[in-house]
Amino acid sequence: MNAPTRVPNNLEAFWMPYTANRQFKSNPRMFVAAKDMHYTTSDGRQVLDGTAGLWCCNAGHSRPKIVEAIQSQVAELDYAPAFQMGHPKAFELASRLVQLTPQGMDHVFFTNSGSEAVDTALKTALAYHRVRGEGSRFRLIGRERGYHGVGFGGISVGGIVANRKMFGTMLTGVDHIRHTHDLSRNAFSREQPEFGAEYAEDLERVIQLHDASTIAAVIVEPVAGSTGVLIPPKGYLERIRAICDKYGILLIFDEVITGFGRLGTPFAADYFGVTPDLMTVAKGITSGVIPMGAVFVKKEIYDAFMQGPEHLIEFFHGYTYSANPVACAAALGTLDTYHEEGLLTRAADLAAYWADAVHSFKGLPHVIDTRNLGLIGAIELESIAGQPTKRAFTAFLNAYEKGLLIRTTGDIIALSPPLIVSKAQIDELAGILTDVLKTLD
Ligand SMILES: Cc1ncc(COP(=O)(O)O)c(C=O)c1O
Repeated sequence: MNAPTRVPNNLEAFWMPYTANRQFKSNPRMFVAAKDMHYTTSDGRQVLDGTAGLWCCNAGHSRPKIVEAIQSQVAELDYAPAFQMGHPKAFELASRLVQLTPQGMDHVFFTNSGSEAVDTALKTALAYHRVRGEGSRFRLIGRERGYHGVGFGGISVGGIVANRKMFGTMLTGVDHIRHTHDLSRNAFSREQPEFGAEYAEDLERVIQLHDASTIAAVIVEPVAGSTGVLIPPKGYLERIRAICDKYGILLIFDEVITGFGRLGTPFAADYFGVTPDLMTVAKGITSGVIPMGAVFVKKEIYDAFMQGPEHLIEFFHGYTYSANPVACAAALGTLDTYHEEGLLTRAADLAAYWADAVHSFKGLPHVIDTRNLGLIGAIELESIAGQPTKRAFTAFLNAYEKGLLIRTTGDIIALSPPLIVSKAQIDELAGILTDVLKTLD
C-alpha cells in the first residue's frame, strides 16, 4: 500500500490535544502509516511503538481481523440507533465481554471513550444508591494523581493538578484520598512495592470526615497510568476493597489502561484478585482503532434499575454512538485477535524479561526510579531545577529521532508496548532508550 507522505502545508487550524502546539508546528512529527509494532513517519522512517499508541493498540497496528471486521461492517450496517433499537453485534459483543470479566460483572453499558465511561460509572453509582432509596449517598471519592479522563466528572475525581486548576469548581461533593507514590521507601521496586498498604487507611479518614451515609463510590485506577505509572503497594487494593465493603460504598476500578491484557490477565482485577463493583474500560477494547468505551457492572447494580412499569426507560443516560455497529465489529475483531494469539495473557510470559529491560536503566544519568508491572514500565527522571517536564520531553524528542515512540508525563517516561512485542524488540527499545538517557543533559 502506498502511504501518503506529504506533510500538509498548513498546520494552523488543528488545535492539537494535550500537545505543545507551537513547538509541534515549528517542527512537526507525522505518522503516515502503521503496521504491527511500527509506525512510518512522513520522512519514511520506521518508529518502534513503545506505547501502543496511547496505551491502546494492544494488538499492534493494522491487524487483519480488525481491519476486515470494520470494512465489512461499514458496508453492511453503518449505523443503528441504540436507543429503543438494537443490532445483533451489540448483544454478541456484550455477551462475549462479560464472559471475560471477573465473576459477577455481567452487564455492560457502551460509551465512546474512557472519559465517557468514567462519567457513566459515576452517574451509575449515584443513581444506583438513589433507586435503592439511599439518595443521601451523593459524594464521589477519587485519589490524588488519579487520571480519569477529561470530562467534568473525570477531572473532578481525578487528581492531576494541571487537568483541574483551569476549570472552576467542577463537580461538588468530591473528595480525594492520598496517592501511593513513595520513592523514599519504594524506589526501584520490581513489580508491587513492599511499603504503603497503609495509605488505604486514608479512605477511613475521608469517610470519618463526611460520614459513610453520604458517600456513593470510590474510584481508583488499579495501576495509575497517565500520571506516570504508580504501582499499588502490596495489600493496598485489598484494603480499599475491604473498607468499601465495610461502609456499603461502591468501588470503581478505572481499567481504561489496565484492561485487555496489559498486566498479563484480562483485567487488573484478575491480576490483583480484587473485584470492583463497576469497571471502566476503553482503549484496548477495540485495540484503539475505533473509539469505544464501556462500563461493566455487577448484576445487583443492573437489577436494581430493572423495576417499575416496563414501558419506562430505567436509566436516562446514553450516547448517540453507544454500541455503534462499526465499533462493535472492531471490538469483536479485536477479541478474536486477542483470543487467537493469546494476547490477554502474553504479558505474563514476557513480564520478567520486560522487568529486566526496565530496570536496566537504573544508574543512568538523572534516573531516580524505574518501576514495572506486566507490560508497563516507567523511568522517573530528576527534574531540571525550575524547568519541570523539560528533561523528559527532550528524551521523547530524541527517542523519536532515533526511531522509538515513548510517552512522557511530567519527568516520567512511561512505556507500554503493544502486547505482540517480541523479546528482540524489547532489546531494541531498551537499546535506543539507553542511548537517549546517556546523552541527556
Ligand atoms: C485510567 C484512564 N481513565 C480514563 C481515560 C480517558 O480515556 P479517553 O482519553 O478515551 O477519554 C484514560 C486515558 O488515558 C485513562 O488512562
